[in-house]
Amino acid sequence: MNRYAVFGQPIAHSLSPRIHAAFAAQFDIALDYRAIEAGRDTFAPALAAFTRDGGCGANVTLPLKEDAGALCAALSDRARRCGSVNTLVRVGDAWHGDSTDGAGLLHDLTRHGIEARDARVLLLGAGGAARAVAFALADAGARELFVANRTQARAQALADALDAPARARAWDTLQREPAFDLVVNATSAGHSGDAFVLPCAAIGATTACYDLSYGNAARAFLAAARAAGARVACDGLGMLVEQAAESFALWHGRHPHTTPVLAALRG
Ligand code: ATR
Repeated sequence: MNRYAVFGQPIAHSLSPRIHAAFAAQFDIALDYRAIEAGRDTFAPALAAFTRDGGCGANVTLPLKEDAGALCAALSDRARRCGSVNTLVRVGDAWHGDSTDGAGLLHDLTRHGIEARDARVLLLGAGGAARAVAFALADAGARELFVANRTQARAQALADALDAPARARAWDTLQREPAFDLVVNATSAGHSGDAFVLPCAAIGATTACYDLSYGNAARAFLAAARAAGARVACDGLGMLVEQAAESFALWHGRHPHTTPVLAALRG
């Protein structure tokens, strides 16, 4: 049976095995997809063992997305640009790295009827998750892309890396900006339990808000977005399913139906 896996830490509660099993069932593909616990120190030997066991595809999640590229013989253009790998494809006797997070976000925005093209977008955060989606938002034709981060130097570095009309902003200057069309939360604030102070002036009645996280991690941002009067406030569960579908298509050459899988996860 073809072997696939998701590597990360923590990984026990990953939904990826369930999502890929549901996709495989749509095509009667026999699939062995497991969650494998691996941190930054143990990823290389864990991937080597998986390779010896016949692994032919893998997903990579926190905290490994920025390290995974070093273990690949080749990278897609989008993975190289955003410095993040979430999908490994076995080609001959080497791993090729790709990043499907940005495409996953754009597909889910479309599902929600949210336009990135010509939009004035505020991206909160400048870490790995923000990098993975920033290039996709720019490529999708965002009219303006503001990158705001607690540590402004990181926001500046990301804005400089984007060959687009991007600007960096310090977190505390956002109060002076008029409301955005789209605000994407790519910070890890919801995971750490730190207080999240939303730049409320940036959100108005025409603003769509999107958190890359889901479940408890998205709760504080989405509540703040609704309190600020956002038009719509969405979590990132749909993006998780869509990025998985993009990975599945890279491995199996077929694009699964995502809507029923997302509906099943929402229960
Ligand atoms: P990830 O891979 O999830 O993006 P990361 O690379 O460590 O993780 O980046 C975390 C991001 O969340 C950063 O933009 C971080 O801001 P700093 O660069 O200032 O550290 C942001 N972040 C984390 N906790 C935050 C908080 N409580 N408030 C605002 N931003 C926060």
